[in-house]
Amino acid sequence: MLLGVNIDHIATIRNARGGSEPDPIKAAEVCEENGASSITTHLREDRRHIMDKDVRALIKVLKTNLNLEMAVTEEMQKIALEIKPHSVCLVPEKRHEVTTEGGLDVKGQLTKITNFIQPLKEAGILVSLFIDPTREQVVASSKTGAQFVELHTGHYSLVYGTLEEEDAFSDLKEAAELAQTLGLRVNAGHGLNYHNVGRMHEIDGLYELNIGHSIISQAVFTGLGKAVREMADLIK
Ligand code: PXP
Repeated sequence: MLLGVNIDHIATIRNARGGSEPDPIKAAEVCEENGASSITTHLREDRRHIMDKDVRALIKVLKTNLNLEMAVTEEMQKIALEIKPHSVCLVPEKRHEVTTEGGLDVKGQLTKITNFIQPLKEAGILVSLFIDPTREQVVASSKTGAQFVELHTGHYSLVYGTLEEEDAFSDLKEAAELAQTLGLRVNAGHGLNYHNVGRMHEIDGLYELNIGHSIISQAVFTGLGKAVREMADLIK
């Protein structure tokens, strides 16, 4: 199973000051040097974290694959066709959400999504659909021509360690099995952390996990001590 790292939070910190630090491109390089198989960024309509210039820089420097998360809009389709990332992951996007809330309603937008992904596929871009782990969404996804689904692990992550965990996990496992039976490759992500990620190995055939928040959060504490020491030494 591979690890894709979402670097959006690095850009969030950078944008809080409006300067250039921390640099998401440098962060992506560190992720690659330490085992990331791909770098994910979500170019949001409001550009709240990753910006167009970041995506354009990433595509030039990455040694691994760029996975561009994006909404199903004409603007994003145009950008993807111009930049040509290795893959795109289509997500629902609400302007006021803190993070991607639910999966894409593929069943309810079957024709729209099927038509939307056609030019992307023709351009050689792999297409993944971020969906809730339900039978209907998996079946609908298999009809669109997308090569991948990314199963939303947000609910599983939220109820991990509670009585609801088994049901949430079974939904993921069954959705992954069905998707593979229907010819889709399966990724998963959202809310995964250092505790709940272990069970992903119980799902056969998962290709890649996309993880952001918990890795960046962990990085604060694995790096904070060293950063303070370096500054303390400088000002001594
Ligand atoms: N996959 C998708 C489609 C997402 O939208 C996100 C969040 O941007 C992630 C994975 C990563 O989620 P997290 O930051 O909770 O690890």
